[in-house]
Amino acid sequence: MAESLDTLLGELEAIRSAFSTEVGTLREAQAIEQIRVKYLGRNGKVAHYFKKMSTLAPAERPALGDSLNKLKSEFQERLVHLQVALRSNGKQGSHMFDLTLPGTAPEIGYRNPLLQVLDEIKEIFGNMGFVVKTGPLVENEYYNFQALNFPDDHPSRDLQDTFHLNGGLLLRTHTSPVQIRTMETQKPPIRIIAPGRCFRKDTPDATHSPEFHQVEGLAVNEGISLSHLKGTLIAFAHKLFGKETKVRFRPSYFPFTEPSAEMDVYFDERLGWLEILGAGMVHPNVLSGVGIDPEKYTGFAFGMGIERIAMLKYQIGDIRHFYDNDIRFLKQF
Ligand code: DAH
Repeated sequence: MAESLDTLLGELEAIRSAFSTEVGTLREAQAIEQIRVKYLGRNGKVAHYFKKMSTLAPAERPALGDSLNKLKSEFQERLVHLQVALRSNGKQGSHMFDLTLPGTAPEIGYRNPLLQVLDEIKEIFGNMGFVVKTGPLVENEYYNFQALNFPDDHPSRDLQDTFHLNGGLLLRTHTSPVQIRTMETQKPPIRIIAPGRCFRKDTPDATHSPEFHQVEGLAVNEGISLSHLKGTLIAFAHKLFGKETKVRFRPSYFPFTEPSAEMDVYFDERLGWLEILGAGMVHPNVLSGVGIDPEKYTGFAFGMGIERIAMLKYQIGDIRHFYDNDIRFLKQF
């Protein structure tokens, strides 16, 4: 029996609104599948009307085909949306969106104590007129050793201690190369600190890590003396550890400073005096190497390990805690 196109189109409208009603009350993922089968399945309502195409006059068929295709994609789209909504609601229970549920608050991160100490150090030296400089982590022999007056056979150049890369490059073993890079491009007066990562071949244990952090300091001008160095570092220690803190300087040796010293801080009876940094007056060879006249200018320099300072300040027993990213550790500071 031939049916009229208008009747069929009218029936499609009825199906559309029935679908809408059913979908509107739907709360479970399983029900989505049932509705899909009912409307879009092989023996579903849409398929049923596709079969009726042949009952129409050829000229009328495209109109029905168009309507059916539209209906089909409309239903498909609607069901996909529903599926997404149900899934993102996190539950396939009786409510699609339960607005009364408390949200899941993401845990807030914490600033690593290493960076907190670094911020403090930057602030203290910043107040004394030192500006922050950075340099590359991948260096070459010249900046890491030669320009710093290390002799060719110095033990720290050894393969044992330094990570050598191809092409004469290496991972910097200290922040001192930033001294050279600064003096190459900047004429005195110079007053900089250079914080950053350094690398040495060390087997990790409670006090060693192959990757660690230092802060370098450098001041160059006419008339800079050892007392400027001492005054600056004592002021620094008092700011960082408290103004009653006792410090002492011991003679030491670094190729790029002459004279050289190490500064110790007195912590308590148990820990006693502990070394926190190396320092000295910039060696004349270093100055002339970068084209600064050592007869006219003098300078002081210092370098400190941040891990060690943070461990002392916060009584952290194992250097590896800094890099583990364990929130139980980080939230303590
Ligand atoms: N670069 C030295 C090290 O890694 C630390 C150091 C000592 C830096 C004395 C300095 C300095 O600038 O004057 O052991």
